[in-house]
Amino acid sequence: MNDLPRRVWLEISLETLTRNYSKIAEAVAPCGVLAVLKANAYGLGVLPIAEALARAGASCFGVAEPYEALQLLPLGKPVQILSSVLPDEIEPMVAAGVTLPVTDRATAMRISSAALRCGRTATAHVKLDTGMGRLGILAQEALPVIEEAAALPNLRLEGIFSHFPYAYETGSELTNRQMDLFCAILEQAAARGIHFAKRHIANSDAINNFPRACRAPFNQVRTGINLHGSFDTAGRRALHVAPVLSLKTRLTAIRTLPPGTGIGYGHTYRLHRATRVGTVSAGYADGLPLALSNRGYLLIRGAPCPVLGRLSMDYATVSLESVPDAQVGDEVVCLGGSGIHALTVEDWAALKNTHPYEIICSFGNRVERRYV
Ligand SMILES: Cc1ncc(COP(=O)(O)O)c(C=O)c1O
Repeated sequence: MNDLPRRVWLEISLETLTRNYSKIAEAVAPCGVLAVLKANAYGLGVLPIAEALARAGASCFGVAEPYEALQLLPLGKPVQILSSVLPDEIEPMVAAGVTLPVTDRATAMRISSAALRCGRTATAHVKLDTGMGRLGILAQEALPVIEEAAALPNLRLEGIFSHFPYAYETGSELTNRQMDLFCAILEQAAARGIHFAKRHIANSDAINNFPRACRAPFNQVRTGINLHGSFDTAGRRALHVAPVLSLKTRLTAIRTLPPGTGIGYGHTYRLHRATRVGTVSAGYADGLPLALSNRGYLLIRGAPCPVLGRLSMDYATVSLESVPDAQVGDEVVCLGGSGIHALTVEDWAALKNTHPYEIICSFGNRVERRYV
């Protein structure tokens, strides 16, 4: 039973993924690349993605929280929590050898105490809030905390990092100011004999819009969405990365319905004439945006088939007027395809009035992840 192929699947090209990784690595060299694999590699399946990236040369991984960190440790690469750690999470993370963020003085002290109890040296990166307003030590308060943390036993401050809220906006003043603050803190720390082996601030937005964030004193970037060949909604798309994913399903029914037939919940579409319509086995539970209703299309045998009516949880109805030879069981491309009708994550994001991150992270649980 469990071997039954699923009706909806994501095809994820590991070859494209590793090509994307290499393009990013070449573009930012000599900076290193930390692959951001939080939220199950943005929903695409963390282990196959991490293994492929490790084979391509990725030297370290970033995640959001402890469970994600533990999943990746068996790969033998450094794993770093990029956001926050709760007090009770610290000791198990130190014992496991996960690199932790120092987001405040108390966290530094807890990491040091946990490391003493475990009889190990914990590795940590100081997290600065230079303008993100989410987590980390405020830039103006950073120096004394860094000095205290650097003096704590069994705590090695390997790195220092910060994050951008605005780096999609080429030339944005805030982004430049954040880097100025970061550099000033580096200099002040250096004057007190504190040096960080890893210094990083760039995310995908910055890699595409702020070359300054990818050169000295910075020596590492953190990228997530670009690995998957997608970009933020706004900003330049300097990197030539390609989409890694296609979302596919199958045609489950074909019927010719008479004029006047209302289609789906609310009858938001009514047939003007007798029409050959197809029922497709994917709906919003699989990640198709409700906004495709009466507005988008899916591809069958390479032809665009307009979505008729409101799509539902498990099904969408399409017109088959452009594919007279369509048959039950045919593959239906919901995202992907080639040529002028190719459907991209960015197209769906625009349709849904959201950003590509939400599209990639929103494929449903029953969608099989197939790595090709
Ligand atoms: C701290 C941090 N760094 C880097 C990234 C990677 O961002 P992106 O996927 O835009 O490259 C994220 C993701 O939101 C993040 O939270």
